Amino acid sequence: MQDSQDQATAGLPTKIDTSVAHEARVYDYWLGGKDNYPADRALGDAIASHIPAIRSMARANRAFLGRAVRYLVGEAGISQFLDIGTGIPTAGNTHEVAQHLDPAARVVYVDNDPIVLAHARALMSSTQEGRTAFIHADLHDPRSILSQSTLTSTLDFDRPVAIMLVAIMMYFRDSDDPHGVIDTMLDAIPSGSYLVITHPTADFDDRAMARVVSSAEQAGITFNPRSGAETTGLFAGTELVEPGVVPVVTWRPELTDKLSMGSVQASVDPESAWYWAGIGRKP
Ligand SMILES: C[S@@+](CC[C@H](N)C(=O)[O-])C[C@H]1O[C@@H](n2cnc3c(N)ncnc32)[C@H](O)[C@@H]1O
Repeated sequence: MQDSQDQATAGLPTKIDTSVAHEARVYDYWLGGKDNYPADRALGDAIASHIPAIRSMARANRAFLGRAVRYLVGEAGISQFLDIGTGIPTAGNTHEVAQHLDPAARVVYVDNDPIVLAHARALMSSTQEGRTAFIHADLHDPRSILSQSTLTSTLDFDRPVAIMLVAIMMYFRDSDDPHGVIDTMLDAIPSGSYLVITHPTADFDDRAMARVVSSAEQAGITFNPRSGAETTGLFAGTELVEPGVVPVVTWRPELTDKLSMGSVQASVDPESAWYWAGIGRKP
């Protein structure tokens, strides 16, 4: 097994504060994980009171991650992943799906949550042929990620890389310059690389989503849903692969497999999960 874990980036908290809700643990709660505390469950339940289907929506988002990796390895020939906003390890982590298809695949995970840092070494193992690494860093400062030696020693930036921003950009307000952050990351990777984004949206029920935003902000968590057009705008500088930016459950559902959370459904309501999803290719 080869794995590595970078030192925590200077300036980021490494102490786990369980007295306040944190987005990684709320998401873990919805996915049925065990790494959550009363404050996380309280916020998770408050949001579920506004969106009763939130747990299945979280699973739909997670299932897309698996399909995206299957597409990237199986059809796009990608063997290097930079997964930012990793979350607490759960079923179908990026490296598990990728290395199942290509044992030599390399994955670098990035998350700013100390609880994800605490789990990184225990859970993110790798195949013999591949590599898996973890960096404790904040996407608000993309250069703090790009300058890490763990990143450059694990991924070869002369070859295409897939940057995964799955359910993370909603923590960026427009004033946080999400476009600039993504541009900085895209500038670092070569032509033929990919960008994967999912994003929660108010497009399917603006009133319920407004209550979610309010619950999250009362708990001190920024939560900024974006429209389909705004989500599409985050792919600026890339060419969207088919079927474009679409409701998450409708993005290539045939790519589902047993390593991904979720199941193939003959017909699925596109509005059953309030996320937009897409993959762009850097020309
Ligand atoms: C909702 S979870 C998504 C997990 C996983 N990508 C998925 O979709 O299944 C969001 C993750 O992003 C992390 N996160 C939020 N803001 C971040 C930032 N600015 N930099 C790095 N990680 C961040 C959180 O700690 C959390 O683990």
